[in-house]
Amino acid sequence: MEIIESIENMQRRADELRSAGHTISLVPTMGFLHEGHLELMRVAKKHSDKLVMSLFVNPTQFGPTEDYGQYPRDTEGDLEKALGVGVDMVFMPSVEEMYPEGSQTKVHVERVTQHLCGISRPTHFDGVTTVVAKLFNIVKPHLAVFGQKDFQQLTVISRMVMDLNMDIKILGVPTVREPDGLAMSSRNNYLSDDERKSALCLKKSLDLANKMFQEGERGAGIIRDAIESLIRDHPFTDIDYVSICDSTSLEDIGIMRDESLVALAVRVGKIRLIDNRVLRKN
Ligand code: PAF
Repeated sequence: MEIIESIENMQRRADELRSAGHTISLVPTMGFLHEGHLELMRVAKKHSDKLVMSLFVNPTQFGPTEDYGQYPRDTEGDLEKALGVGVDMVFMPSVEEMYPEGSQTKVHVERVTQHLCGISRPTHFDGVTTVVAKLFNIVKPHLAVFGQKDFQQLTVISRMVMDLNMDIKILGVPTVREPDGLAMSSRNNYLSDDERKSALCLKKSLDLANKMFQEGERGAGIIRDAIESLIRDHPFTDIDYVSICDSTSLEDIGIMRDESLVALAVRVGKIRLIDNRVLRKN
């Protein structure tokens, strides 16, 4: 497995691979890998013959009061896991390499960034789209793979790729869950045992929403109220948002459609967790 730290070397290797006729896939990560990330890599590997993982904790997607400094890091463990799933190259630049003095360009996607997480994290998606656009220019992948757990991120990146005519296929991979249903996240490690139990309210509320929908409920407000009351019954929880929205525009809806998105962000103790489910008629 090659480890590449400089942009120049990564771009050169990407050109060499492309000239030799290889297809390149990219899985962008911020490290502290778990089974959810490894699944993205397995999927990426099936669709390409050279798999590049980027490992970069991107400071520009954290707000001023968020956990950039505390974001968990385990480079040695990450490299071992990457090797285990057959990653061919790891691109792990420094912050100075990615954002040298004088950088002043941002990629901003307009409307789909303004709902859900964009309300309480107004600068987050500019940080994500800017770093992902840079990674695309550096790694030059044919395909990039993202988790559906960050549904809005996947939507925003897909929109950016469409709007800027980037010649890259974006693939979304279903959320990987712990055996009890909690969506995998690097932040789960920070939950105490009692908070961990309460955190199951996210998955339980998505199941409840699905049950109500399949039984014929079409009032989005009624489903949202039921979710909020289920979450409030769990200790340590504080709702950031419960949104029932159009799965493309991410705009809230009043009446359920044949396909609608239920998306949640809930603070459990100090840890903010997200989860979502697309509801479709069975
Ligand atoms: O999903 C993440 O881990 C990050 O937002 C990403 C896509 C690696 C960009 O920094």
